[in-house]
Amino acid sequence: MDKKHINVGLIGYGTVGKGVVRILEENKKIILRKVGKSIRVKSICDLNPIDRPSLYVKNFRDIIKDPEIDLVIELIGGYEPARSIILEALQAGKNVVTANKAVLAKYWDQIFTTAQNCQKSIYYEASVGGVIPVVQGLSEGLASEEILEIKGILNGTTNFILSEMTKNGASYEDALKSAQKAGFAESNPTFDVDGIDTANKLAILASLAWGGWIKVKNIAVKGIAGLNIEDVLIAQDFGYDIKLIGSAQKTKDGLDLSVQPCLVKHDHAFATVENEYNAVMITGKDSGDVLFYGKGAGQGPAASAVVSDIINLSEFIVTNTAGIVPDVIYDMKKKIKILPAGRSKAPYYLRLSVVDKPGVLSKISGILGKYKVSIASLAQPDVSNDDYVRIIIITHDTHRENLEKALKQIDATKSIIKSKTVKLKIEL
Ligand code: HSE
Repeated sequence: MDKKHINVGLIGYGTVGKGVVRILEENKKIILRKVGKSIRVKSICDLNPIDRPSLYVKNFRDIIKDPEIDLVIELIGGYEPARSIILEALQAGKNVVTANKAVLAKYWDQIFTTAQNCQKSIYYEASVGGVIPVVQGLSEGLASEEILEIKGILNGTTNFILSEMTKNGASYEDALKSAQKAGFAESNPTFDVDGIDTANKLAILASLAWGGWIKVKNIAVKGIAGLNIEDVLIAQDFGYDIKLIGSAQKTKDGLDLSVQPCLVKHDHAFATVENEYNAVMITGKDSGDVLFYGKGAGQGPAASAVVSDIINLSEFIVTNTAGIVPDVIYDMKKKIKILPAGRSKAPYYLRLSVVDKPGVLSKISGILGKYKVSIASLAQPDVSNDDYVRIIIITHDTHRENLEKALKQIDATKSIIKSKTVKLKIEL
């Protein structure tokens, strides 16, 4: 490549886009040393005019069709037009960097097949875990490994909310507002709190780890939206924190995939992960546990990961080798067996609200026993009011479907139950 600069076209000039332009400008010397050429933002496309009028273009196709542009950065998020931008850019012979986990998880096959056919590269480190180099860690650092398990706190917004509730007794609503103000949340924060964002990121990591396409619809997803502060506080008393965990585990009957709020012991590695920080534990057959940790959301961390992708990809652009070897070896024919959600096995925390009268406990334990749910410990923390009491049960490992059947029957026993039983997985 004989041009003086690598020319970049940026589509989406929001929180992360502005951070990318800033870091590219501030770190010019570092970039020149690493790439051997400077990286220049040639055009920026956004819905609204921007503070750099000389770079502004209204239509994203003006960037895609510009023969001088080497690299298209997609930072608008969402499904469309993000999908079209990525596909059209690859087809036009551009390499692509994106932070868009939603579009990658949903169109994984189409995007990587197009990249492979066009012999162009798409880098997406910022799509999972913010600044944490987990995509690179998994695809390069752990390239030799048979991956057995991936577990992670993958959403900064929900982790921030849970930390605020636990440490400062903040209400769910106030904590969410602070997370939005800090620029951690998605434009539609239900993606964060309902666990969809975590599921998108888990689908990306699992697809990378097991070489197929793990679809979000194969993941059993539960967010933190309905989480009661009462359970956060009781969990604390019992020595646990509550974290939203995405988990993919290889079992002999298929991949066990879930996103759900889980109890973790205070001394668990995930318990110390607070605020917008993320952590991912990857277990390989020979490597054992490998822990990745860092800021998972926010302008600086996300923009830093995007710029790292731009630099890493530019090193290949300079030598005209970007995309010659596909970034994701995607085998469309590979079928990955998924474990039905009900067959998943784990210990659980249960909070029952029951009337305080003789025979209630034996009724509950009888139903649990009937469905092979074994009790590890049981407590009646205090009398919450005259009408009912709380019973906290920690179970041994149990199949989710058995537990759900037992709780359905327990909750239907209106003579003893005051409100729906809460169940939360315990992550060991
Ligand atoms: N909304 C996301 C989060 C942003 O809170 O983690 C980073 O992907």
